[in-house]
Amino acid sequence: MNDQFTLPDGFLWGASTSAHQTEGGNTRSDWWALEHAGLTDRIEEPSGAACDSFRRWPEDMDLLAGLGFTDYRFSIEWARIEPSPGEFSDAAVTHYRRMVEGARERGLRPMVTLHHFTAPLWFAERGGWATPDSADFFARYVEAAAPVFGEGVDHVCTINEPNMVAVMAAVLRARHGGSGSLPAAGLPLPDEAATEGLIRAHRRAVDTVKSCAPHIRTGWSVANQSCLPEPGCEEQAAAYQHPRETAFLEAARGDDWLGVQAYTRTRIGASGPLPVPEDVERTLTGWEYDPKALDAALRNTSATVPGTPLIVTENGIATADDDRRIAYTTGALTGLAQAMADGVDVRGYFHWSALDNYEWGSYRPAFGLIAVDRKTFVRTPKPSAAWLGAMGRTRVLPTGS
Ligand code: BGC
Repeated sequence: MNDQFTLPDGFLWGASTSAHQTEGGNTRSDWWALEHAGLTDRIEEPSGAACDSFRRWPEDMDLLAGLGFTDYRFSIEWARIEPSPGEFSDAAVTHYRRMVEGARERGLRPMVTLHHFTAPLWFAERGGWATPDSADFFARYVEAAAPVFGEGVDHVCTINEPNMVAVMAAVLRARHGGSGSLPAAGLPLPDEAATEGLIRAHRRAVDTVKSCAPHIRTGWSVANQSCLPEPGCEEQAAAYQHPRETAFLEAARGDDWLGVQAYTRTRIGASGPLPVPEDVERTLTGWEYDPKALDAALRNTSATVPGTPLIVTENGIATADDDRRIAYTTGALTGLAQAMADGVDVRGYFHWSALDNYEWGSYRPAFGLIAVDRKTFVRTPKPSAAWLGAMGRTRVLPTGS
């Protein structure tokens, strides 16, 4: 392909964050409880004050807009809006409404995520997504949050990575039952009841959002597995993918858009997922460095749900070496350009993440375009931030390896 690719008009160009990973002090959430109960061996440290973005969100938005981004994806926190069942906080709703207005004032189009991994502790304690009425509770929260997105928001993401939420539900259930060793490679099977609950909750949330604000384009975002089968192992890949990814893509049929989130690829052999080979580069999350994951995810998603526009709602790399971030992202954007040139309908790209933030158990894996000092919370954009933000102005993607 040519060495430059121009983004179509209206293409969303942004960075993503989530509430729990950046706000700090999300004390009424299930994750806060988990961080303090030490229930999984992945939790090295609690989230604490995170990036203090509950107070510093204007700084975050100033930086993003100044860098050239035109869009910002952030999430609102159910545990703050409904800290106890049926008790809604007007202060929290007003806070998030101000964020929407603040984004608009700075020329950023907000994409609002309603659920990004965390729920109120009371919801988790009553059984979480696996209970038959979980979708009713979610719809009630979404209705209460309507003032946040009623005006000034064009895109709402109902649930971030529902497939990972269902996997997490299975892991926690096994741990509570005293069993549940994790597989040596790949993801465990998602909890079936949670999968059903999440799909119901998505449909109810779509209806609720549309009934409050019919202009909003709704969707959800799936963690793509970007499977890389060894020759002859395509069936094993499909069997691995179905409950962990495909079922969630298929549930998005008929939505206004579908979010693609890709970081690395899962190698599949004759007996299923394979460990990351010894001789390849790994990122700070231990994942294989593989910028081609995005191209693979886009093509697989568009083949699974043809006709549904796609938005890259997350893509990025955990690294302490910002040159590697630029190299990885160049490769990923090359794949994006190639997929679009081949007819895949992609409407936006959001980098994960705007900030170095709480990576679900640790601050070590640095995904941010902007560094955050852990003591002073001072923000320092990295060279990658200026490089990627500038494409919001030029609208031209790099192409390279
Ligand atoms: C999640 C983010 C997470 C990122 C990197 C996605 O699974 O949506 O919350 O930080 O990937 O692991």
